[in-house]
Amino acid sequence: MRTILITGAGSGLGAALAKEWASKGSHIILVGRTGQTLKEVNRTISNNNGLSSIYLCDITVPSEIARMKESIKQDGLSVDLVVNNAGVGAFGAIEDIETEDVHTVIDTNVKGTIFMTQAFLPHLKEVSGRIMNIISTAGLKGKNHEAVYVASKYAVRGFTESLWKELEGTSVSATAVYMGGMNTPFWSNTDHVKDSTRLKSPLEKAKQIINQDEGQSEIFIDR
Ligand SMILES: NC(=O)c1ccc[n+]([C@@H]2O[C@H](COP(=O)([O-])OP(=O)(O)OC[C@H]3O[C@@H](n4cnc5c(N)ncnc54)[C@H](OP(=O)(O)O)[C@@H]3O)[C@@H](O)[C@H]2O)c1
Repeated sequence: MRTILITGAGSGLGAALAKEWASKGSHIILVGRTGQTLKEVNRTISNNNGLSSIYLCDITVPSEIARMKESIKQDGLSVDLVVNNAGVGAFGAIEDIETEDVHTVIDTNVKGTIFMTQAFLPHLKEVSGRIMNIISTAGLKGKNHEAVYVASKYAVRGFTESLWKELEGTSVSATAVYMGGMNTPFWSNTDHVKDSTRLKSPLEKAKQIINQDEGQSEIFIDR
Protein backbone atom coordinates (compact mmCIF):
# COMPACT_ATOMS: atom_id res chain seq x y z
CA MET A 1 0.00 0.00 0.00
CA ARG A 2 1.33 3.45 -0.97
CA THR A 3 1.84 5.88 1.93
CA ILE A 4 1.31 9.56 1.11
CA LEU A 5 2.22 12.38 3.52
CA ILE A 6 0.24 15.59 2.92
CA THR A 7 1.01 18.86 4.73
CA GLY A 8 -1.96 21.14 5.38
CA ALA A 9 -4.26 18.11 5.21
CA GLY A 10 -6.87 19.49 7.61
CA SER A 11 -8.59 21.78 5.10
CA GLY A 12 -8.97 22.83 1.48
CA LEU A 13 -6.91 21.12 -1.18
CA GLY A 14 -4.88 19.04 1.29
CA ALA A 15 -8.02 17.53 2.82
CA ALA A 16 -9.49 16.88 -0.64
CA LEU A 17 -6.31 15.17 -1.87
CA ALA A 18 -6.22 13.11 1.34
CA LYS A 19 -9.81 11.85 0.95
CA GLU A 20 -9.41 11.19 -2.78
CA TRP A 21 -6.11 9.30 -2.49
CA ALA A 22 -7.42 7.36 0.54
CA SER A 23 -10.48 6.30 -1.50
CA LYS A 24 -8.05 4.87 -4.06
CA GLY A 25 -6.31 2.73 -1.42
CA SER A 26 -3.35 4.77 -0.16
CA HIS A 27 -2.54 5.24 3.53
CA ILE A 28 -2.55 8.99 4.17
CA ILE A 29 -0.37 10.74 6.73
CA LEU A 30 -2.31 13.88 7.62
CA VAL A 31 -0.04 16.74 8.73
CA GLY A 32 -0.99 20.16 10.11
CA ARG A 33 -1.04 22.24 13.28
CA THR A 34 -4.73 21.87 14.21
CA GLY A 35 -5.74 18.51 15.68
CA GLN A 36 -9.48 19.15 15.34
CA THR A 37 -9.51 19.64 11.55
CA LEU A 38 -7.13 16.72 11.00
CA LYS A 39 -9.39 14.50 13.15
CA GLU A 40 -12.40 15.42 10.99
CA VAL A 41 -10.56 14.43 7.80
CA ASN A 42 -9.32 11.26 9.54
CA ARG A 43 -12.89 10.37 10.53
CA THR A 44 -14.24 10.91 7.00
CA ILE A 45 -11.51 8.70 5.56
CA SER A 46 -12.14 6.00 8.15
CA ASN A 47 -15.94 6.16 7.59
CA ASN A 48 -15.21 5.40 3.93
CA ASN A 49 -13.05 2.42 4.91
CA GLY A 50 -9.81 4.27 4.16
CA LEU A 51 -6.62 4.47 6.20
CA SER A 52 -5.02 7.60 7.61
CA SER A 53 -2.89 8.77 10.55
CA ILE A 54 -2.51 12.18 12.15
CA TYR A 55 0.79 13.92 12.94
CA LEU A 56 0.74 17.42 14.39
CA CYS A 57 3.60 19.47 13.01
CA ASP A 58 4.44 23.09 12.23
CA ILE A 59 6.42 22.80 9.00
CA THR A 60 8.23 26.08 9.67
CA VAL A 61 10.06 24.45 12.60
CA PRO A 62 12.76 21.94 11.55
CA SER A 63 12.88 20.31 15.02
CA GLU A 64 9.13 19.57 14.80
CA ILE A 65 9.63 18.01 11.36
CA ALA A 66 12.48 15.87 12.73
CA ARG A 67 10.28 14.73 15.63
CA MET A 68 7.41 13.91 13.25
CA LYS A 69 9.72 11.96 10.94
CA GLU A 70 10.94 9.90 13.90
CA SER A 71 7.35 9.21 15.10
CA ILE A 72 6.33 8.09 11.61
CA LYS A 73 9.28 5.67 11.57
CA GLN A 74 8.51 4.41 15.10
CA ASP A 75 4.92 3.77 13.96
CA GLY A 76 6.26 1.51 11.20
CA LEU A 77 5.15 3.74 8.32
CA SER A 78 7.29 4.35 5.26
CA VAL A 79 6.45 7.45 3.22
CA ASP A 80 6.45 7.02 -0.58
CA LEU A 81 5.20 10.49 -1.55
CA VAL A 82 5.56 13.82 0.28
CA VAL A 83 3.02 16.41 -0.83
CA ASN A 84 4.14 19.91 0.19
CA ASN A 85 0.70 21.50 0.16
CA ALA A 86 0.52 23.68 3.31
CA GLY A 87 0.53 27.32 2.28
CA VAL A 88 -0.70 30.75 3.30
CA GLY A 89 -1.29 34.06 1.51
CA ALA A 90 -0.94 37.80 2.20
CA PHE A 91 -2.76 40.16 -0.09
CA GLY A 92 -2.97 43.88 -0.73
CA ALA A 93 -0.73 46.72 -1.89
CA ILE A 94 2.89 45.78 -1.22
CA GLU A 95 3.49 48.78 1.07
CA ASP A 96 0.52 47.72 3.23
CA ILE A 97 1.58 44.12 3.85
CA GLU A 98 2.67 43.68 7.47
CA THR A 99 6.26 42.55 8.11
CA GLU A 100 4.94 39.65 10.17
CA ASP A 101 2.79 38.48 7.24
CA VAL A 102 5.79 38.62 4.89
CA HIS A 103 7.67 36.37 7.32
CA THR A 104 4.73 33.95 7.67
CA VAL A 105 4.25 33.56 3.91
CA ILE A 106 7.94 32.99 3.21
CA ASP A 107 8.42 30.79 6.29
CA THR A 108 5.45 28.57 5.44
CA ASN A 109 5.41 28.39 1.65
CA VAL A 110 9.13 28.51 0.95
CA LYS A 111 11.03 27.43 4.06
CA GLY A 112 8.39 24.86 5.07
CA THR A 113 8.68 23.17 1.66
CA ILE A 114 12.49 23.27 1.83
CA PHE A 115 12.66 21.92 5.42
CA MET A 116 10.21 19.08 4.65
CA THR A 117 12.21 18.13 1.55
CA GLN A 118 15.52 18.20 3.42
CA ALA A 119 14.08 16.01 6.17
CA PHE A 120 12.43 13.37 3.98
CA LEU A 121 14.84 13.17 1.02
CA PRO A 122 17.23 10.63 2.60
CA HIS A 123 14.27 8.29 3.28
CA LEU A 124 12.72 8.93 -0.17
CA LYS A 125 16.05 7.94 -1.75
CA GLU A 126 15.85 4.60 0.07
CA VAL A 127 12.35 3.83 -1.23
CA SER A 128 12.49 5.43 -4.72
CA GLY A 129 9.94 7.94 -3.52
CA ARG A 130 8.65 11.22 -4.75
CA ILE A 131 7.97 14.86 -3.81
CA MET A 132 4.96 16.83 -5.06
CA ASN A 133 5.00 20.60 -4.53
CA ILE A 134 1.64 22.36 -4.70
CA ILE A 135 2.42 25.73 -6.27
CA SER A 136 -0.27 27.88 -7.97
CA THR A 137 -0.67 29.92 -11.12
CA ALA A 138 0.96 32.50 -8.79
CA GLY A 139 4.17 30.58 -9.55
CA LEU A 140 3.72 31.23 -13.28
CA LYS A 141 2.89 34.93 -13.57
CA GLY A 142 2.87 38.11 -11.49
CA LYS A 143 -0.47 39.18 -10.01
CA ASN A 144 -1.82 42.49 -8.69
CA HIS A 145 -1.76 42.81 -4.89
CA GLU A 146 -0.25 39.33 -4.55
CA ALA A 147 3.45 40.25 -4.74
CA VAL A 148 4.60 38.47 -1.58
CA TYR A 149 2.51 35.36 -2.27
CA VAL A 150 3.68 35.29 -5.91
CA ALA A 151 7.31 35.70 -4.76
CA SER A 152 6.88 32.70 -2.46
CA LYS A 153 5.39 30.54 -5.22
CA TYR A 154 8.08 31.50 -7.75
CA ALA A 155 10.56 30.44 -5.06
CA VAL A 156 8.91 27.02 -4.71
CA ARG A 157 8.90 26.69 -8.50
CA GLY A 158 12.63 27.50 -8.61
CA PHE A 159 13.26 25.08 -5.77
CA THR A 160 11.35 22.30 -7.54
CA GLU A 161 13.04 22.87 -10.90
CA SER A 162 16.42 22.79 -9.14
CA LEU A 163 15.45 19.49 -7.50
CA TRP A 164 14.93 18.05 -11.00
CA LYS A 165 18.61 18.79 -11.70
CA GLU A 166 19.87 17.67 -8.32
CA LEU A 167 17.87 14.43 -8.34
CA GLU A 168 18.92 13.42 -11.86
CA GLY A 169 20.39 9.92 -11.65
CA THR A 170 18.63 9.16 -8.34
CA SER A 171 15.41 7.19 -7.90
CA VAL A 172 13.55 10.22 -6.48
CA SER A 173 11.49 12.60 -8.61
CA ALA A 174 9.82 15.94 -7.94
CA THR A 175 6.59 17.31 -9.40
CA ALA A 176 5.40 20.93 -9.56
CA VAL A 177 1.63 21.43 -9.58
CA TYR A 178 0.00 24.62 -10.86
CA MET A 179 -3.65 25.50 -10.31
CA GLY A 180 -5.83 28.60 -10.07
CA GLY A 181 -8.35 29.72 -7.44
CA MET A 182 -10.23 27.29 -5.20
CA ASN A 183 -12.98 27.85 -2.65
CA THR A 184 -11.07 27.05 0.56
CA PRO A 185 -10.37 28.65 3.98
CA PHE A 186 -7.29 30.18 2.30
CA TRP A 187 -9.49 33.20 1.47
CA SER A 188 -11.22 33.54 4.84
CA ASN A 189 -9.12 36.42 6.22
CA THR A 190 -9.00 38.61 3.11
CA ASP A 191 -11.36 40.44 0.80
CA HIS A 192 -8.85 40.14 -2.05
CA VAL A 193 -11.23 37.66 -3.65
CA LYS A 194 -14.70 39.15 -3.44
CA ASP A 195 -16.69 35.93 -3.47
CA SER A 196 -14.60 32.79 -2.98
CA THR A 197 -17.72 30.59 -3.28
CA ARG A 198 -17.55 31.29 -7.02
CA LEU A 199 -14.17 29.55 -7.23
CA LYS A 200 -13.77 25.87 -8.12
CA SER A 201 -14.06 23.30 -5.34
CA PRO A 202 -10.82 21.84 -3.97
CA LEU A 203 -12.25 18.35 -4.55
CA GLU A 204 -12.57 19.05 -8.27
CA LYS A 205 -8.92 20.21 -8.41
CA ALA A 206 -7.77 17.26 -6.29
CA LYS A 207 -9.45 14.83 -8.69
CA GLN A 208 -7.82 16.59 -11.66
CA ILE A 209 -4.39 16.42 -10.02
CA ILE A 210 -4.74 12.73 -9.23
CA ASN A 211 -6.18 11.89 -12.67
CA GLN A 212 -3.46 13.80 -14.51
CA ASP A 213 -0.66 12.46 -12.31
CA GLU A 214 1.49 10.00 -14.20
CA GLY A 215 4.70 10.75 -12.36
CA GLN A 216 5.61 13.66 -14.63
CA SER A 217 7.63 16.66 -13.44
CA GLU A 218 4.87 19.24 -13.99
CA ILE A 219 1.08 19.17 -13.73
CA PHE A 220 -0.84 22.16 -15.09
CA ILE A 221 -4.44 22.22 -13.87
CA ASP A 222 -4.72 25.89 -14.86
CA ARG A 223 -2.25 28.30 -16.49
N1 LIG B 1 -7.19 28.41 -2.48
C1 LIG B 1 -6.69 28.81 -3.65
O1 LIG B 1 -7.32 29.58 -4.40
C2 LIG B 1 -5.34 28.29 -4.11
C3 LIG B 1 -5.00 28.41 -5.47
C4 LIG B 1 -3.79 27.93 -5.92
C5 LIG B 1 -2.91 27.32 -5.03
N2 LIG B 1 -3.26 27.22 -3.70
C6 LIG B 1 -2.30 26.56 -2.80
O2 LIG B 1 -2.88 25.35 -2.36
C7 LIG B 1 -2.32 24.99 -1.10
C8 LIG B 1 -3.44 24.64 -0.13
O3 LIG B 1 -4.19 25.81 0.10
P1 LIG B 1 -5.76 25.79 0.42
O4 LIG B 1 -6.40 26.67 -0.56
O5 LIG B 1 -6.22 24.39 0.58
O6 LIG B 1 -5.76 26.59 1.80
P2 LIG B 1 -6.17 26.18 3.29
O7 LIG B 1 -7.47 25.47 3.31
O8 LIG B 1 -6.02 27.42 4.09
O9 LIG B 1 -5.06 25.09 3.67
C9 LIG B 1 -3.77 25.40 4.09
C10 LIG B 1 -3.38 24.38 5.12
O10 LIG B 1 -2.01 24.59 5.49
C11 LIG B 1 -1.91 24.34 6.88
N3 LIG B 1 -0.77 25.09 7.39
C12 LIG B 1 -0.59 26.43 7.36
N4 LIG B 1 0.56 26.75 7.96
C13 LIG B 1 1.12 25.59 8.39
C14 LIG B 1 2.29 25.27 9.09
N5 LIG B 1 3.16 26.22 9.49
N6 LIG B 1 2.56 23.98 9.37
C15 LIG B 1 1.70 23.01 8.98
N7 LIG B 1 0.57 23.24 8.31
C16 LIG B 1 0.28 24.53 8.02
C17 LIG B 1 -3.23 24.80 7.48
O11 LIG B 1 -3.56 24.05 8.64
P3 LIG B 1 -3.21 24.52 10.14
O12 LIG B 1 -3.45 26.01 10.18
O13 LIG B 1 -4.13 23.73 10.98
O14 LIG B 1 -1.79 24.15 10.34
C18 LIG B 1 -4.22 24.45 6.38
O15 LIG B 1 -4.82 23.19 6.59
C19 LIG B 1 -1.45 26.18 -0.67
O16 LIG B 1 -0.10 25.91 -0.94
C20 LIG B 1 -1.95 27.32 -1.54
O17 LIG B 1 -0.96 28.29 -1.75
C21 LIG B 1 -4.46 27.68 -3.21
